[in-house]
Amino acid sequence: MLDWNDTPNKLPRGPQEEPLNKPQYRPGYENQPEQEAGPVSQPEASVPDPYAVADGALRQPETGEDEAITGLEQVELGGDRVQVDDKRIINCRADVNQLVPFKYQWAWEKYINACANHWMPNEVNMSADIAMWNDPNGLTDDERLILKRGFGFFASSESLVANNLVLGIYKHLTNPECRQYLLRQAFEEAVHGHTFQYIVESLNLDEGEIFNMYRELPSVHAKAAWALNYTQSLNDPDFKTGTPENDQTFLRDLIAFYVIFEGIWFYAGFVQYLSFGRRNKMTGTAEQMQYIMRDESMHLNFGIDVINQIKIENPHLWTAEFQEEVRAMIDEAMHLEIEYAHDTMPRGVLGLNASMFDEYMKFIANRRCAQIGLKELYPGAENPFPWMSEMMDLKKEKNFFETRVIEYQTGGALSWD
Ligand SMILES: [Fe+2]
Ligand SMILES: [Fe+2]
Repeated sequence: MLDWNDTPNKLPRGPQEEPLNKPQYRPGYENQPEQEAGPVSQPEASVPDPYAVADGALRQPETGEDEAITGLEQVELGGDRVQVDDKRIINCRADVNQLVPFKYQWAWEKYINACANHWMPNEVNMSADIAMWNDPNGLTDDERLILKRGFGFFASSESLVANNLVLGIYKHLTNPECRQYLLRQAFEEAVHGHTFQYIVESLNLDEGEIFNMYRELPSVHAKAAWALNYTQSLNDPDFKTGTPENDQTFLRDLIAFYVIFEGIWFYAGFVQYLSFGRRNKMTGTAEQMQYIMRDESMHLNFGIDVINQIKIENPHLWTAEFQEEVRAMIDEAMHLEIEYAHDTMPRGVLGLNASMFDEYMKFIANRRCAQIGLKELYPGAENPFPWMSEMMDLKKEKNFFETRVIEYQTGGALSWD
């Protein structure tokens, strides 16, 4: 169990020599409380590749068009090996089935760190939550509302994010070490979906009410509908990156899902659930949400690194006009979030109220703008929840995961005796 009176950063994980996801703060970010994306790796064009003998092991498409590789092209026997300089984060023209040599070390490190954070929802004891939920005096009606609407929002969101990864992003992100992380992330989204199934089952909630909330509650529906616009354009079978217009479409999707969906919208829910835990209420649920927050923090950082790497390799995409369009996207998403905050908290609860969330979302949105190199949208917005900063302060990360036994390292090992 987490100790809610202490730093809640002591989440379990398997043993690891080095602190995971070591913060590599960029200048000017030292005092920012949240987990930052590491610096974007620069292409290591001068690194000699001992494996490489020539470039490109796959034939270009038979059409003769200069198209990005998907990894499903015919393999040429005796074809050339991939050199590190052949790798591109989008629009790669060389085989994407060769994981090494790494070009984007940051993506591989995130994959390793994510695996070290493995957890499953059914490891968390929910008995105290069940007793509290079933006690007529255990929670107020407003507290029950905030819990249920959050479950509804997250339950459908985990699915939408996973589908976007697998059906929208994966094909067009043409780098194997990034894809390795995407595969891990996709599994984590499955774990998160499992979490809400497990909570709903544990508390004996009306699963139809929770899992249909994105169809039935306007503020949850509005966010799902907004995000779907961005993934649907990538899932068009005729969509291909390789033109400035389409590459910007891909960037829009990355920003909509990583920066806005996972990086802004989820944070209102994290504050709400962690507020229960801080008051010793629904501690099992709050613990699950903290595990999810740890995963999502890394998803966000990965997305930011990908976006910034695309900008480095394709500076022509990051026009002033496009930047303004992205800022408008974030502002639009903010208004949807404010509507959601009012829907989940029609009255003050747990020391929270909707206007505090307006301010918090603006504070978070400013930070996301800075992380992808945009001018901030809401100058002067401040963090009304300084304790969230404490929860996410990576300076404490060295003792982040000390408590976990090592079953994931050994529990599944085969014995030949
Ligand atoms: Fe998730
Ligand atoms: Fe995620």
